[in-house]
Amino acid sequence: MKRLLIIAHAPSPNIKRMIDAVLKGANSDVIDGVEAIFIPALEANADDVLKADALILGTPENLGYMSGALKDFFDRNYYPCMDKTEAMPCAILIRAGNDGTGTRRALESILTGLRWKIVQEPLICRGDFKEEFIDQAEELGLFMAASLEAGII
Ligand SMILES: Cc1cc2nc3c(=O)[nH]c(=O)nc-3n(C[C@H](O)[C@H](O)[C@H](O)COP(=O)(O)O)c2cc1C
Repeated sequence: MKRLLIIAHAPSPNIKRMIDAVLKGANSDVIDGVEAIFIPALEANADDVLKADALILGTPENLGYMSGALKDFFDRNYYPCMDKTEAMPCAILIRAGNDGTGTRRALESILTGLRWKIVQEPLICRGDFKEEFIDQAEELGLFMAASLEAGII
């Protein structure tokens, strides 16, 4: 059984729904060989990453950057993960009121430093909340789990 780990900060009801949707897609009945779990960013540590086969990183954009909680995850775990998690497949989910580019840029820079592999165009759910964000989040979870099961990431 492969493990897909979702590490996210979900401080609002809308973002919680989006993370639930990611999990729903990733744990879909059509996927047999993947177990998807969610660990809040403030609780996730390097051991969790080492046990995972792929990651989805989720955050709101606040003040032009990722949430402090996701930044804290990297502050605590960047060096413990370094050189042990090279080529970790990962995807990015950003909920942004109106932008998202600062968060995307910062995450891409950190992930490049870790030598993790971004396997999907970052999903930026921008603007007023729309129900389609839930569908997009579910599709992202399904895509990552299916890709992991098929061995293509
Ligand atoms: C203090 C604060 C700063 C924010 N800064 C940004 C920002 O720089 N860029 C942006 O796109 N959205 C920004 N937002 C909007 C958040 O991204 C948005 O409130 C969050 O994703 C939750 O969305 P929701 O209302 O759908 O739950 C900010 C929100 C807060 C509370």
